[in-house]
Amino acid sequence: MQVNYFGHFLLTLLLLPLLKKTGKPLEPSRIVNTSSIYHNIGKIDFKNLNKTNYWYKFQIYAHSKLALVLFARELTCRLRGSKDTHVVINSVDPGAVGTNIFYSFGPIRGAIIKFLFYNMFKTPWEGAQTAIHVAMDKKAGEVSGEFFKNCKQASAHWNAYNETVAKQLWEESVRLVKMSDEELNHCFLDL
Ligand SMILES: *[C@@H]1O[C@H](CO)[C@@H](O)[C@H](O)[C@H]1NC(C)=O
Ligand SMILES: *[C@@H]1O[C@H](CO)[C@@H](O)[C@H](O)[C@H]1NC(C)=O
Ligand SMILES: *[C@@H]1O[C@H](CO)[C@@H](O)[C@H](O)[C@H]1NC(C)=O
Repeated sequence: MQVNYFGHFLLTLLLLPLLKKTGKPLEPSRIVNTSSIYHNIGKIDFKNLNKTNYWYKFQIYAHSKLALVLFARELTCRLRGSKDTHVVINSVDPGAVGTNIFYSFGPIRGAIIKFLFYNMFKTPWEGAQTAIHVAMDKKAGEVSGEFFKNCKQASAHWNAYNETVAKQLWEESVRLVKMSDEELNHCFLDL
C-alpha cells in the first residue's frame, strides 16, 4: 500500500503547486497512475488500510490499485473547485504484462506463470502504450478522474465510482501520511 498508493498520494500532492503552475488550457499538467485489472477485486477496508499481514498478499495489491482510481476521482473533484486549474489525473490498466512482477509470487510460481501465459501477455513495450496515450493524446488530456484501457477510455469497477468512499479514503490517507491541514492547504495554493 505504501509503495503503490500512499507514496503516489503524497508525491502527487507535494507536486501539485508545480503542476498547477505549469498546466495551461491547451496543455494541462497530466498525472498518470498505473492501476490494474485487479482493482476489480480490491476493497477499501478503512479499519485495515495499513494492514500488511493478509494471508493472500496479492489482495493488498488489488486494494492499492482500487485506491489509485478513487484517488484520481477525488483529486479531480477537489481541483474542480479552483478555477484556472489545468491539471488532469487519470489512471490506466496496462493489461497483463509479462514483467518480473510475477516473481513476487515466489521464484518457482513466477516462472510457471510466465511460462504458461507467455503468449497471452503483452510485452512491456505494449503494456506501456496506454500510459503513453494518456500522457500524450490531446483528447485524453481533456478528461480527468477517468480510467483507460487499451488506449481508450473505459469503465473501472463500480466500487471506484463511490464518492463517499473516495472522500473518506482521501481523509484517511491525509491522516496516514501525517499531513496537517495547513500542509494540505499549501498543496492547493498557487505558487
Ligand atoms: C503516479 O503518478 C505520479 C504523479 O504523476 C508519478 O510521480 C508516479 O510515478 C506515478 N506512478 C506510477 C506507478 O505510474
Ligand atoms: C494502523 O492504523 C491504525 C488505525 O488508524 C493505528 O491504530 C495503527 O497504529 C496503525 N499501525 C501502524 C503499523 O501504523
Ligand atoms: C458507497 O459505499 C458505502 C460503503 O461501502 C456504501 O454504504 C454505499 O451504499 C455506497 N454507495 C453507492 C452509491 O454505491
